[in-house]
Amino acid sequence: MVSKIAKWMAEHPSSIREIMSLVAEYKKHPEKFPRELIYLAGGWPQDMPPGILINKLKEVITSEDLIRMSASYSPTIGYPDLLEAIVQYEKEVFSRSVEPEEIVFGLGSSEQTGALFISLLDPGDELILTAPGYLNYERQARLELLGNVNIRYWRVIKDGVFSPDLDELQSLITKKTKAVVITTPGNPDGQVWTDEIIDGLSDLAEEKDFYILIDVAYRAFIFYEKPKYFSRKRREKEIYICTLSKELRIPGWRASYVLLPYDLARYLNTIEQARTLAPCSLVQTTLIKLFNDKNALSEVKKFYEEGTKKYEKAAKLTVDYLSRIPQLKILEPQGGFYVFFDVSYYEKSSRKLCNELLQKYQVALTPGIDFNGFEGWIRLSFAPVVESQEKLIEGLERMIKFFEEKRR
Ligand SMILES: Cc1ncc(COP(=O)(O)O)c(C=O)c1O
Repeated sequence: MVSKIAKWMAEHPSSIREIMSLVAEYKKHPEKFPRELIYLAGGWPQDMPPGILINKLKEVITSEDLIRMSASYSPTIGYPDLLEAIVQYEKEVFSRSVEPEEIVFGLGSSEQTGALFISLLDPGDELILTAPGYLNYERQARLELLGNVNIRYWRVIKDGVFSPDLDELQSLITKKTKAVVITTPGNPDGQVWTDEIIDGLSDLAEEKDFYILIDVAYRAFIFYEKPKYFSRKRREKEIYICTLSKELRIPGWRASYVLLPYDLARYLNTIEQARTLAPCSLVQTTLIKLFNDKNALSEVKKFYEEGTKKYEKAAKLTVDYLSRIPQLKILEPQGGFYVFFDVSYYEKSSRKLCNELLQKYQVALTPGIDFNGFEGWIRLSFAPVVESQEKLIEGLERMIKFFEEKRR
């Protein structure tokens, strides 16, 4: 016997995790596949973390005092020294002024988003997600509220154009709306939300009394001038979700923090006491060393600037190749790891198209249907091949052949 929610989760597995099983299968039995699998589905960076971070980790593990600190439990929301150090990181790297009291450190943003849902929503409340939008929020919200949440979708791409409309959002808001979640730069769409729309959203949130969860997982990968909300002071109803997984290339370390109102920080603390007890102290001790060192922070900043150029180059190359395929409608990315495009001319079912491409040409992409039901579109992630342009080109050339065959 298992619970209803356990059954629901099993019936709605994360498609990214499913694709990862395929990669594991390929690694174990490459002979079963006619050619090398080109994996353009997962959104995690494959390049190395900055050298300075590794040096700091080495310093920690060779100091008896620091090993002692990193082997013990920290306070639930992170060591006070870490919260102070994050203030420096925000200031030096993102030019944002934050107070330690508005920071809660945690074990990755997936975990922290779940805790935020618990702190903001009662059973039966409403949550607004974007369509398309990051695929895990819905599963997380349903899990945390044991299925008892109403989710409404705000369609932010219309006629192939990214155009979030606040009037449309307003029509979705009811007295039960507690939060709106957005991602900028977007996953799966690579779009950077403008100041105008974020400020309008914040005005609306203040007027109607709901929170905006702004997931900035890809903030260190913006190809053009960054809008001001990445550096200005946090407004009353804004909660910034800042994972270190992507920017520091450490998804396996499980490290993130949220910037939120003081009173909410206190609630998150007591919720996390029962969920995680504490984040990882070894990671925290390393980050304290990194973020408290001004020279190290300028190295990190340089690492981000160079990284952005590398990712932008891969994004441009991808768009350039995909543009050679007639009838694909491509949303040009402004940041992040992804190119999102409309394949509905060829096939209405994005899952069917992805399966066909995988079977015939061994290129793995992610169907749009998994991003809050955005059917007819597909996401290509260049992150797994950002270090090997040849592999990216090989994958894109296979795609060109695949669509050529489909046109015949
Ligand atoms: C928008 C977005 N938020 C959060 C996450 C997960 O972050 P974390 O590793 O901090 O759990 C991802 C991972 O792909 C993501 O794309």
